[in-house]
Amino acid sequence: MSRILCVGIATPDIINHVAEYPVEDSELRALSQSRRMGGNAANTAVLLSQLGHTVSWVGNLGPGGDIVEETFRQHRVDAAAAVRLTTGGMPTSYVTLSESTGSRSIVHHRDLPEYEAEAFRELDLNRYDWVHFEGRAVDHLQVMLDMVQRHPRLGTSLEVEKPRDGIEALFGKADVLLISYVYALSRGFENATSVLKSLPNGCLATCTWGAKGAWAVDEQRRVLYEPALHLDRIVDTLGAGDVFNAGLISALCRGQPLESALAGAVALASSKCTHEGVELGH
Ligand code: FRU
Repeated sequence: MSRILCVGIATPDIINHVAEYPVEDSELRALSQSRRMGGNAANTAVLLSQLGHTVSWVGNLGPGGDIVEETFRQHRVDAAAAVRLTTGGMPTSYVTLSESTGSRSIVHHRDLPEYEAEAFRELDLNRYDWVHFEGRAVDHLQVMLDMVQRHPRLGTSLEVEKPRDGIEALFGKADVLLISYVYALSRGFENATSVLKSLPNGCLATCTWGAKGAWAVDEQRRVLYEPALHLDRIVDTLGAGDVFNAGLISALCRGQPLESALAGAVALASSKCTHEGVELGH
């Protein structure tokens, strides 16, 4: 069991389940609607707690975040140090989940400032063994990662999911990079191996590639591959990347070698796609 801090966003996700993804400028009735907590770092935090770690989450919360507070409470994620703002609103994701493919298309709206390094400075980092960052506001993350580097005992991971300007400046500052194919494609890489091989020497990193599975590179620049599980039916892919991240961080915190950490994380993310939501225990 490790003490893990996740830094990033939490959102209400409003999910419309549809038989098929709609064509543009058409009208479609949803089969059903569900609401749940989302957000990359928030989803990862919930999973890490379910995997047996002691987990805290920090980020900004706006008015209307009841579903987030309640979900954290249910899963024993400590969000006491989150910043609760009284203006703006919760970042919200409007998700169209296609029952024919399990694909999720997200329209995300936010009217809330990003979590700042000044708030992070107030935290007592001695309380944690590992800090996981969602790659968002690069200028603030740079300062936060520098603070964490002053505690060499602490493990660090950085999720590189979206192509944020200048995010590459952070690559040398985290122990593990969790890269997505969305980032890789946006930077002109055609596959996971080429993005992983472009990283500086000694970098430990993974790259997830949807239904293909995930790749990793170790400190010796050896590239590893783990295919996704074959699934007869894909129900819900929303948050599968966040689940992968939790599986990988959990395994590394337990001292597992990268190879088995990668295999476990892919299996966890694959099986997540067979049921709705990110939680275990289905
Ligand atoms: C899934 C997710 C959703 C959230 C969106 C934010 O990975 O975390 O739960 O609404 O991404 O980008």
